[in-house]
Amino acid sequence: MSRTGGSLGDDTTVLETTARILDGKAVAAEIRAEVAQRVAELLATGGRRPGLAAVLVGDDPASKVYVGSKKRASEEVGMLGRVEILPSDTPRERVDALLDELNGDDAIDGILVQLPLPEHLPERPIVERVLPEKDVDGFHPLNVGSLWLDQRGLAPATPSGVIELLHRSGIEIAGRRAVVVGRSAIVGKPMAGLLLREHATVTVCHSRTRDLPAVCREADILVAAVGRAGVIGPEHVREGAVVVDVGMNRLTERAQVDHFFPGDAHRRDVFERRGSTLVGDVDFTRVARKAAAITPVPGGVGPLTVAMLLVNTLAAARRRQGLD
Ligand code: GUN
Repeated sequence: MSRTGGSLGDDTTVLETTARILDGKAVAAEIRAEVAQRVAELLATGGRRPGLAAVLVGDDPASKVYVGSKKRASEEVGMLGRVEILPSDTPRERVDALLDELNGDDAIDGILVQLPLPEHLPERPIVERVLPEKDVDGFHPLNVGSLWLDQRGLAPATPSGVIELLHRSGIEIAGRRAVVVGRSAIVGKPMAGLLLREHATVTVCHSRTRDLPAVCREADILVAAVGRAGVIGPEHVREGAVVVDVGMNRLTERAQVDHFFPGDAHRRDVFERRGSTLVGDVDFTRVARKAAAITPVPGGVGPLTVAMLLVNTLAAARRRQGLD
C-alpha cells in the first residue's frame, strides 16, 4: 500500500492504493541538487556562471508564476536568472529585438519564450528566432531534428523529465511498449522521440485514434498528454502498467471534484479553500487501483520540467564554453 500527500503538494490526494506513486517532486529536488553541484564545480574551475532568460509577453497569471519559478530555480542552483516581461500589445519587432539582444548576450546561455503568446504574435517564427544553442526549451527545428536523428542537441524539458523520472525510479523502458496520448509539439511528439531513443516500441494516439482504450491497454508505459481532466480512465489501462500523467487541468466545479475524488476530504478541503484544484489527464483515483506505478498531479511530472530546464541550461553553458 502506498500513500500520497505530504511532500507531494497541497492538492495531492491522500488515498490507499496498490500502485507505486512516482514522486516527481523528490526526483526534481535530486536533479536540482546535482545541477547546483555541477554549477559550483564549473565556477571553481574558472568557468563562467550559466544564465537563463525567460521572456513573457502579456500578463497571464499562470505564465507569470511559471517564469517566476524558473528564475528562482536558476538562482537556487547558482545560475543567473533573468525575466523579461513585455506588455501584451508588444509588436513583433520589439519581441524580435529582445530575442536578438539575448542571443547576443554572452552571459545568457538559455532563452525561453513562455507560451502561449498573445494572439497577434506568431509562435513559430518567434520560437525560431532563439539561437538553437540557447534554445533550452528544445523547440527550434534544429533541436527537433537532432532529437529524431539521435544527435546532440537540446530536448524539451517536460518529456525529458518523464524519461529521467522513469530511469531514476528503476522503470525499464528498452523493449517495452509505450503509448503516448497526445501529439503536441511541446510534449507528445518529443515524448515519442525520446521513448524511441530509449528503445521503447512507441505508439502515438490522438483525437482521430480509433478505439483509444484498446490501443492504450497495449501499453506497458502509458503517457497521457491530452490536456483534459481525467479522460484516461481504468478502461485505458492494463493491469500492472506504468502510468505517467503530464496533464495539468484545473477543476472549478464541485461536482467534478466529487466525481474524480469521491470521499476525499483533503481534495474537497483544497477546493473549498481555493475554489479550484489541480488534476491531470488521468482519473487518478480509479487508475491507481490498476496501475503498477503512477504519477500524481500535482507532484508528479510538473516539478521535473523546471529541473530539466536547468539541466539544459547547464548543458548549453558548458557547450558554449567549449567544455563538452
Ligand atoms: N508553456 C507550457 N509549457 C511550456 C514549456 O515547456 N515551455 C514554454 N516556454 N512555455 C510553455
